[in-house]
Amino acid sequence: MSDNSQTPPAIRIWDERFSTDEYVYGTAPNDFLVRVADQLPGQSRILAIADGEGRNGVWLAKQGHNVHSVDGSRIALEKARALAQQAEVSIELEQADLLHWRWPKSQYDAVVAIFIQFAGPEARRRLFENAISSLKPGGLFMLQGYRTEQLAYGTGGPPQEENLYTEQLLKSELSGLDVLVLRAHDSVISEGMGHSGMSALIDYVGRKP
Ligand SMILES: C[S@@+](CC[C@H](N)C(=O)[O-])C[C@H]1O[C@@H](n2cnc3c(N)ncnc32)[C@H](O)[C@@H]1O
Repeated sequence: MSDNSQTPPAIRIWDERFSTDEYVYGTAPNDFLVRVADQLPGQSRILAIADGEGRNGVWLAKQGHNVHSVDGSRIALEKARALAQQAEVSIELEQADLLHWRWPKSQYDAVVAIFIQFAGPEARRRLFENAISSLKPGGLFMLQGYRTEQLAYGTGGPPQEENLYTEQLLKSELSGLDVLVLRAHDSVISEGMGHSGMSALIDYVGRKP
């Protein structure tokens, strides 16, 4: 058995969640990402943050992009590696705590952030700042997450209201970007056992000037 004593408790919880043969969020890409992916220039260099078991990073690699997928969970990354092998694509996988990571600066054509709501307000502001600084000028930040109304649905996402989004919050915390898409909607999603059912969502795409 591997030694996980160095793993921070917050990440160990994710390792435990991912310790099943099933892909907790499925193996199909997120619907929003598929809808907006035509905005990505061909062969983009993409940073997929908190990419989990790799469903989104692997799909982007299949579209011909050059993907750097980062997640804190070693177990998730092992599953992402297996998914990439199955799909016969190559993807750069890195285990890192994104709250204490040395973010590359001005390197990426896009940062993809699908359900990354593990951070409270202060950590989230830093995470957003770092994500923006890692984009090249003209680069895109693509994010989908749950809105505060999700607490009533209970079909996925964190229980802490402060980790959830509102339109105003995204406008204000991502004010360094030009907004291309900002859409709040309630939709049924089916993403493995992790996200399933009617959900209060928000879609965001912004461009770094
Ligand atoms: C809800 S899952 C979403 C996974 C993936 N984006 C998807 O949509 O399938 C949240 C992810 O955040 C990762 N995570 C949580 N805290 C993290 C941290 N501090 N640094 C990096 N990744 C973290 C977890 O390991 C998990 O894969």
